[in-house]
Amino acid sequence: RIRRRELGCRFNIESFTPSFLSIYKSLVPADEEIVKQKQLLVSLRKLVNKEWSSAQLHLYGSCANSFGVSNSDVDICLSIVDTNMSKSEILLRLADLLQKDNLQNVQALTHARVPIVKMMDPVTGIACDICINNLLAVVNTKLLRDYAQIDERLRQLAFIVKHWAKSRGVNETYRGTLSSYAYVLMCIHFLQQRKPAILPCLQELEATCVVTIDGTRCAYFDQVDRLRNFGVQNNESIAGLLWGFFHYWAYYHDYMNDVISVRTGRLISKRVKDWTRRIGNDRHLICIEDPFETSHDLGRVVDKYSIKILREEFERAADILQYDQNPSITLFEPYVA
Ligand code: CTP
Ligand code: MG
Repeated sequence: RIRRRELGCRFNIESFTPSFLSIYKSLVPADEEIVKQKQLLVSLRKLVNKEWSSAQLHLYGSCANSFGVSNSDVDICLSIVDTNMSKSEILLRLADLLQKDNLQNVQALTHARVPIVKMMDPVTGIACDICINNLLAVVNTKLLRDYAQIDERLRQLAFIVKHWAKSRGVNETYRGTLSSYAYVLMCIHFLQQRKPAILPCLQELEATCVVTIDGTRCAYFDQVDRLRNFGVQNNESIAGLLWGFFHYWAYYHDYMNDVISVRTGRLISKRVKDWTRRIGNDRHLICIEDPFETSHDLGRVVDKYSIKILREEFERAADILQYDQNPSITLFEPYVA
């Protein structure tokens, strides 16, 4: 693979910021949608607590991490301890309760990688997935939300990157491309690396939020109100940042040796993590360390075919931002096979 000669950032890149910002604004969900999600959660809590009085329901994923576009599915985690039931039995019982409560399209997927109940609320039209005891996801959701409050450029960048990934068909883990969660971590890491930095590394600061879940200690500084001015020394705006993001993944990232790590705010080496060879299905062709479950590489879904697709898409995006007359349109042109 030939590396491009180093290019300077396109001289007029910032002139595209207004059009990227208007795309961002069109993707942000309206307040009434957030209200509906909360209402659904309240009614589900009532239903669940009739059956399991001490169970709790938590929102996680894009409806709670502040990276959700409008009309996203709602992800809910049912946290339940004192029961003799297996996960599958709980899911089947839950599906039964939901069905009797007139929720629609209720389906228990007990054999999925993450077992869930899927359903649709006919009142609000919201589609919803409920999983059991996935509390690490609830905590990493809070970490993402806290990062988003520090500098609004993170939300802008991540919304545009997710929109690009969905338009181009590279946000499909079952086909070997990356999850939305992975893309948001890539955006956080990128902003931690800017000079001057736009985001701090919350896990390197004094821990003000500490929980241990399934033996994994999750600790970081969560008083983000105190970090609101963190990125003011850096005045880059969304178009330039997008340019930098895609150029990094197209032409600068060292896929052979490097792991991006939001936990440390730096790149770490694959050797240190023993991620240099394929073990089972983990190939480590693009390495993104989970901030809490540090043995998880979110790039593990990527295989030798999909890495090629992914890197070609990064290159396409980088080239559009470098040369195209209308990057805010061309970038999102749907991929047609
Ligand atoms: N998650 C995780 N580990 C993964 C993938 C996902 O812990 N390997 C958790 C994260 O808490 C994430 C949530 O599951 O926030 C939902 O993941 P995903 O669907 O990738 O992200 P969303 O933010 O919900 O994005 P989308 O808008 O595409 O639904
Ligand atoms: Mg989701």
